Amino acid sequence: MQNHSIGIFDSGVGGLSVFREIRKSLPDESIVYFADSANCPYGSKDKDAARALAGNSVEFLLDQGCKMIVVACNTVTAVAIDEFRRRYHVPFIGMEPALKPAARLTATGKIGVLATENTFNGRLFKQTREKYANGIDVMVQPGYGLVELVENGDHESDRAMELLKEYLMPMISQGADTLVLGCTHYPFLINTIMRITHNKMKIIDPAQAVAAQTKRVLVENRLTAATTCPVLSFFTTGEKNTLENILDHTLDQPYILKGIAQ
Ligand code: DGL
Repeated sequence: MQNHSIGIFDSGVGGLSVFREIRKSLPDESIVYFADSANCPYGSKDKDAARALAGNSVEFLLDQGCKMIVVACNTVTAVAIDEFRRRYHVPFIGMEPALKPAARLTATGKIGVLATENTFNGRLFKQTREKYANGIDVMVQPGYGLVELVENGDHESDRAMELLKEYLMPMISQGADTLVLGCTHYPFLINTIMRITHNKMKIIDPAQAVAAQTKRVLVENRLTAATTCPVLSFFTTGEKNTLENILDHTLDQPYILKGIAQ
């Protein structure tokens, strides 16, 4: 079992922002990444529909023999991870809105959060906010349209600039000095975000913390790989080119890329 792969999935290519941190902290592990780009975005879908689609991704990764599953999607974590943990017997790692580090970092007591509607509407966000951001002014902003831009590779387009200005400028003018990226697609917009915030906001991406948690859980469950010949495989329900373009910027070693029927 130790030499089986870690499975990572997202509604699309966004989870690669988590994949790259997991690669850094666990370079000997084989990984299967599954992008459901044909059905992306999940963030504004009916919750049952999003849960059912995510369930297909989990089943796919389990069929590949994955020893553990990383839900590299805040939206799926919000709508489905509790059910997955009840239903399947492999460890699941999820995304958590990074309100705890944000509350520690802010000097103005005001933080901005960009995420999807389903993430904001979930119990996890409300609980995390109550637990870690009590007394902090939390400005929530759904990132309408941003996931689609990342899926299309439009990370630095005029449209990306226009939308991000619309979402971030009000936060900045109201004094928010810290920004939480609550969707795994958004780290790919970092250059455009930084051009708007001009160092006026500290930006928090939880991917590193998720990679550290993945490592901890592997060790605790005695699932760490015993060999050092990792295989990296990528599957998508969408266009292979989309995934390939982003992988060529993310990875500096050979990988296997496969498309699957939707
Ligand atoms: N990467 C997903 C997340 O972290 C994107 C959600 C979507 O498909 O709308 O929430």
